[in-house]
Amino acid sequence: MAYKVLVTEPIHSDAIDYLREFAEVRIGKRKQYDNEDALVEDLEDFDAALTVLSNPVSERVIASLKRTKIVANFAVGFNNIDVEAAKKHGIRVSNTPDVLSEATADIALALLLGVARKIAPSDADLRKGLFDGWHPEGYLGMELSGKRAAIIGMGRIGTCIARRLKGFGIQIGYYNRNQVAHQIESELNAQFFENADELFAVSDFVFMSCPLTKDTHHFLDKRRLGLLHKNAIVINTGRGPLIDEAELANSLHQGDIFGAGLDVFEKEPEVHPLLLSAPNTLLLPHIGSGTFETRRNMGFLAAKAIRFVLTGEVDGKLTNLIC
Ligand code: DGY
Repeated sequence: MAYKVLVTEPIHSDAIDYLREFAEVRIGKRKQYDNEDALVEDLEDFDAALTVLSNPVSERVIASLKRTKIVANFAVGFNNIDVEAAKKHGIRVSNTPDVLSEATADIALALLLGVARKIAPSDADLRKGLFDGWHPEGYLGMELSGKRAAIIGMGRIGTCIARRLKGFGIQIGYYNRNQVAHQIESELNAQFFENADELFAVSDFVFMSCPLTKDTHHFLDKRRLGLLHKNAIVINTGRGPLIDEAELANSLHQGDIFGAGLDVFEKEPEVHPLLLSAPNTLLLPHIGSGTFETRRNMGFLAAKAIRFVLTGEVDGKLTNLIC
């Protein structure tokens, strides 16, 4: 085979079979490439790398590449890759947009329902034998219908979350770099807020769904958490550092907000100890895109970008090259 591709950890075998149609493929072990040294050392021999979000493709890694033409990230988020350095060194970068939007929006709603209706503590109590029959005051949660949601980041995933929220009779406000098309706003009955603070102040449910950049790091910080009302619920399916986790944990412990549902954390796989002990908090191990269908499709998207960059051949329209 003319080409060599390093897949940093195991992914769906259909995507690997596809890569093997045009390249020799080496598959790493979980966590093997979660450090720069391993990437610098091993990528020397490869024409392409298929990376995951825990692989730090830093400026140093990019600058060391001699033969590698593309880094195809197995994620829609690409904050683990120094894209500016890639542009400077002429390395192509791709991600996996669209195919994971529905799955991630499902998890955002699962978190909202779980927190609003106290699903996890109710289940835990029942298993402990604490269900002693129906009673009028047990496990009271919060109605979704008629509430107001703030979506921070009305991209592909934010839009999928909004569609679901509309079905629950929730009023939608959103904050985004740009106002979305009028047609989408009217379909979702969504209102654009130029000022995120104003949106936080009037919202019951906050969904963090924007990319992590230096502008969005700790977007929900102590000051903005202070704008939320006592019955607010915070959901994060974007990236952990969008929220100041220690401050969120404080708000939860002090009862300043109703609860939080988090699928992502600031220092994954670590979880802030004060979040683990916080009341009405549902914590998931970054499973937003975790369905069989989605993970298979993510593999194909990444593999197709690699095929295109190495061979010039492409199946259908390729829309996932970032640079
Ligand atoms: C992503 O794609 O960015 C998710 O966080 C993992 O699927």
